Amino acid sequence: MRLLEGKTVAMTGGGGGLGRCYGVVMAKAGAAVAVCDINLEAARATADTIAQAGGRAIAVQADVTKAAAFEELFDRTEAEFGPLDVLLNIAGIFPRVPLVEMSEETWDAVITLNLKSVFLGSRAAIRRMLPRKRGVVISTASGTGIRGQPKGSAYSASKAGIIGFTRAVSLELKDTGVRINCFGPGATDTPLWRVGKSEDEIQRLLAAGFVYQPDDFSNVVVFLASDLSAPLNGEFISRDLHR
Ligand SMILES: NC(=O)c1ccc[n+]([C@@H]2O[C@H](COP(=O)([O-])OP(=O)(O)OC[C@H]3O[C@@H](n4cnc5c(N)ncnc54)[C@H](O)[C@@H]3O)[C@@H](O)[C@H]2O)c1
Repeated sequence: MRLLEGKTVAMTGGGGGLGRCYGVVMAKAGAAVAVCDINLEAARATADTIAQAGGRAIAVQADVTKAAAFEELFDRTEAEFGPLDVLLNIAGIFPRVPLVEMSEETWDAVITLNLKSVFLGSRAAIRRMLPRKRGVVISTASGTGIRGQPKGSAYSASKAGIIGFTRAVSLELKDTGVRINCFGPGATDTPLWRVGKSEDEIQRLLAAGFVYQPDDFSNVVVFLASDLSAPLNGEFISRDLHR
C-alpha cells in the first residue's frame, strides 16, 4: 500500500527546488498533485516530471500572496482530483540583506510571501477540510526561525512566524480530524539557497558537507502528508546541520 494512495495534494512553490522533488516523491507515493507556482513554466516542468514518473499532476499558475489565488487553485484541484486532502505550503524567498540595509519593501515582500501566504492558504484549505473532518496542512518553516541567521532577519522572522502560527492553529483544530504541522529541511541545495553566494562559497559549503540535497527530506514530507503522522498536530519537525 502506497502511503498517499488516493490523496489529493496542492503544493505552492511547486516549480522550485524542493517543490519539484517533493511533488515527484508524493506522486510516487500515490498522490495526485496540483503544482502551483507563480512561474507557470516551472510548475509545468514539475507536473511533466511527475507524469514521466507515472504520476498524476496539473500545473496551476498563481500568486499565493493573494487570497483569491487559493480559491482558484483549490477549485481547479478539486475539479480535477477530488476533495483536497493535503496543502503543502512551500513558496518562499530569501533575499540576503543585513538589517541596516533592509528596505521596507524587502521586509514586506518576505513577510507577505513567506508568512501571509501560509495564513491565506491554510485558512482557505482548512475551511474546506473542516466539514469533511479530514485533511492536513504542512508548511515549510526553517531552523532559522529558531536560531536566526545573519542577513536573514526578515526570513528568520517569517519562519518563526510560521512555527507560531502552526502551533496556534493546531490548538483550534484539536479533535476536528484536521491537522497542521510544519518542517525545516535544513540548508538544501536549491536556487533559493544559492542566492547571494559566490560559486566559490557554494563549492566550499557543499564540500564541507553543510548542505543537503532536496531528496534527503522528501520521505519526511510524505510521512507528514500521510495518515501515519496522525498523532502529530502543531509540530515543527526539523533537522539542522548548523546546530
Ligand atoms: N533550500 C533551503 O535551504 C531551505 C531551507 C529551509 C527552508 N526552505 C524553504 O523551502 C521553501 C522552498 O525553497 P526552495 O529552496 O525550493 O526555493 P526555490 O527558490 O527553489 O523555490 C521557491 C518557488 O516559489 C515560487 N514562488 C515565488 N513567489 C511566489 C508566489 N508569489 N506565488 C507562488 N509561487 C511563488 C518560485 O517561483 C519558486 O519556484 C521556501 O519556503 C524556503 O524558505 C528552504
